[in-house]
Amino acid sequence: NDMTPVRLQWGEILMPLLKKYKLNITWGDQDLLNIMFFHNPESLYVFPCQWNYRPDHCIYGSNCREAEEEGIFILHGNRGVYHDDKQPTFRAVYEAIRNYSFGDDLVHSLLQPLELELEKTMHTYCGRVYKVFIKQLTKSVRDLYSRRSKGR
Ligand SMILES: *[C@@H]1O[C@H](CO)[C@@H](O)[C@H](O)[C@H]1NC(C)=O
Ligand SMILES: *[C@@H]1O[C@H](CO)[C@@H](O)[C@H](O)[C@H]1NC(C)=O
Repeated sequence: NDMTPVRLQWGEILMPLLKKYKLNITWGDQDLLNIMFFHNPESLYVFPCQWNYRPDHCIYGSNCREAEEEGIFILHGNRGVYHDDKQPTFRAVYEAIRNYSFGDDLVHSLLQPLELELEKTMHTYCGRVYKVFIKQLTKSVRDLYSRRSKGR
């Protein structure tokens, strides 16, 4: 955090920080990033929550207003939710993408089966806001097909 005009690169910053703090930190890279940006807040850009939408944003009720407005941009299936039955809304997205074969019709082979599965999760908190899970996908598909119908 000095006044040198030359910007340091990640590698030059992280190793000295690791040496200094390695006995004091538990979360490895996560802690180093927090230390680095604590000292350089002007270098940090905090993405709105819909860019890292995780189960924590809905399992106890919806707490990502931006996603409710614009939909989810990046869905993060941490806590194992793509592979277990705890959050069926997340799992439905994973399975719909796994079921889809590239090149197949996006509406009939991806969006419609996904929405049918999502509707079945409305008994859960995440399922109550299932539309946020498909808002951006729906928009992308609509944009793609309208570009195509205008002749590529
Ligand atoms: C690491 O923790 C010890 C014990 O709390 C403290 O004395 C030391 O100053 C810490 N080191 C750094 C680099 O913060
Ligand atoms: C994916 O395919 C399986 C097996 O055909 C089906 O049971 C499931 O409902 C599909 N899931 C989605 C989200 O399309």
